[in-house]
Amino acid sequence: MTIGLSKKKSIVGRSPKDIEKYGFDGSGYIGKVLMSKGEKPVLGRKIFMDMTRPHLVLVCGKRGGGKSYTMAVMLEEFARLPFTVKNRISVITIDTVGIFWSLKFPDKKNNDTLADWDLKPSESDVRVLVPKGKLDFYTKKGLPVDGALTLKASELDAVEWMALFKLTWKDPEGVLITTVVEQVKEKLGSYYGIDELISAVKSNTESTKLTRQALTNRLKVAKTWGLIEKQGTRIRDIAKPGAITIIDVSAYRQAIGMEGTRDIIVALIGKKLFEERMLFRKEEEINLLKGKKRESAMPIVWMMIDEAHMFMPNDEQNLALQVLLEWVRVGRQPGLSLLLATQRPNKLHPDAISQCDLFISHRMTSKPDIEAVAAIRPSYLHQDFDHMYSQMPKSKGYALIVDDNSEKIWMVKIRPRFSWDAGVTANAFTD
Ligand SMILES: Nc1ncnc2c1ncn2[C@@H]1O[C@H](COP(=O)(O)OP(=O)(O)OP(=O)(O)O)[C@@H](O)[C@H]1O
Ligand SMILES: [Mg+2]
Repeated sequence: MTIGLSKKKSIVGRSPKDIEKYGFDGSGYIGKVLMSKGEKPVLGRKIFMDMTRPHLVLVCGKRGGGKSYTMAVMLEEFARLPFTVKNRISVITIDTVGIFWSLKFPDKKNNDTLADWDLKPSESDVRVLVPKGKLDFYTKKGLPVDGALTLKASELDAVEWMALFKLTWKDPEGVLITTVVEQVKEKLGSYYGIDELISAVKSNTESTKLTRQALTNRLKVAKTWGLIEKQGTRIRDIAKPGAITIIDVSAYRQAIGMEGTRDIIVALIGKKLFEERMLFRKEEEINLLKGKKRESAMPIVWMMIDEAHMFMPNDEQNLALQVLLEWVRVGRQPGLSLLLATQRPNKLHPDAISQCDLFISHRMTSKPDIEAVAAIRPSYLHQDFDHMYSQMPKSKGYALIVDDNSEKIWMVKIRPRFSWDAGVTANAFTD
């Protein structure tokens, strides 16, 4: 690979009007354009990505293609935005694999590659939150964790409890949890935890003993997750201005029967952020009307979700799906950006594909997945995706970027990370 010395640069995700007004302010350096393919690819101008406007970004590519790596590069760039811009933004990353904590450490192994790009190893200021019940697990492993995350019990409605326990209206436990949630809410308002729900279940007289026992057991199991409590983490602590927060949900990955916990985290955080941003958006408009700056206590939010097909599947229900579809459909107005990464676009809800304004795709070979993204194909894309992928160099980190904002298409190589890559493909050697 030859890295050109081109001084030219371009930006994706920004309209020509915004480029005229803001230039490259509030953007991040993500890679370089591929000038010539073949045996020795030649790279040219730098490519930047807009981080200030609401976007729906879709990052695709087959397994090991570089999606998580590309997300890490973006996180590094968010961390390096100048204070005035950064403080208006909050980034929340849902880490399903447990790899983004390593952004905290510089990549000392890749000095040479970074030097080729005129870059240096460096750490990024990110904050890692893990579900409270898993805090011990992480600290014992020596992983750098900055805090615990809990969800507020009263924010879960009966339908959410049912989904967590995989119950339906037909199940006697489904009926009982609905009754109990209503009763407890009425009696205690918004300050109750799982213990209060268990007491209410036990004193219910309209259900059978077996139903009460079954539901009590489920609630006791939910207590062991250490996630749902009387007092949940405040959304304003999650979406802090200028903070880049990684919510590591990977501990729930292998745990059978606990998949729902991951979904409820995304669903509740997504729902709360949406509500809060809608409110603050009004405050910002009023400030503008009064001749003040467009400012409020709540920053605009980027939520970045790795393995997004898990939360927005196209063929099954998921607690997070409806919430994320709201982000996709109307997130622009309240200033909510979503970045979805997936190796299976074919499994992703079609709205997440058709609505994206920035499509970043690493190599894809599976026909159904390529067909799924064909919905994006805009009129300014003159070749089909099959052809584009066949033109892409086979080594890692190359990506096709289709940008609706500038109506341009680029073939780029994503820049190397400054930080340690904890997602390196496993092999049988130990070095
Ligand atoms: N831009 C890049 N520059 C250099 N190496 C890269 C780049 N992108 C990816 N790689 C290498 O490829 C490996 C796999 O990338 P990554 O983990 O991002 O794949 P992925 O698409 O997220 O895969 P999966 O679908 O399995 O999650 C990385 O650990 C890294 O070694
Ligand atoms: Mg990945």
